[in-house]
Amino acid sequence: MPDVVELIKKQHREVDELLKRAESGDGDTAALLQKVSNLLLPHSEAEESFVYPKIRELKSSENEMVKDGVAEHHDMEAKLSELLREDPDSPGYDGKLAAFIGELRHHVEEEENDLLPVLSEKASDSERESMGSRFMQETEGRLMAASGTVGGVATGTSGSSGSGGSEGDEPTKTELYEKAKEQDVPGRSSMSKEQLKEAVDRD
Ligand SMILES: [Fe+2]
Ligand SMILES: [Fe+2]
Repeated sequence: MPDVVELIKKQHREVDELLKRAESGDGDTAALLQKVSNLLLPHSEAEESFVYPKIRELKSSENEMVKDGVAEHHDMEAKLSELLREDPDSPGYDGKLAAFIGELRHHVEEEENDLLPVLSEKASDSERESMGSRFMQETEGRLMAASGTVGGVATGTSGSSGSGGSEGDEPTKTELYEKAKEQDVPGRSSMSKEQLKEAVDRD
């Protein structure tokens, strides 16, 4: 079972990879930011729903830091949704993108340096593992729901969609994702359909 601290850090790295690509103009900025949003929103929600409360319970002196973290989530979400509504070629866009990325990196740094160590030090291994399972369910479950319309497969049917394929030879994104999950492909939750196809074929 995944340790919640490792899982959160792994998702941070996935988001950062996408942002690095957006910064360097490697790929379609709007599509990259949409992926960032698909990853980040469930991630932050899961942190707020049970990770931050646990940190506060274990170390009450982190209360202010946790409050700052929640405020930063909301601010980053506002900045990101503004970016998603705008044309990446519009004037001022690059500055807004840089501001969003800067804030996100600062937030991640504080989370990893100040908040997550509380769990590493004060929560037991089994607590971190059961939190990790919950975190995975909440983030990957919502991610699937968000991308579930791709390929026409209904959402919320994970686990039973493997043998579909009635729309032709092409596997759907959901099917590919399920396969990647079975093979424990790293970074699968932020992959496009093409990337998933490549990743599962390679294995
Ligand atoms: Fe985080
Ligand atoms: Fe966070």
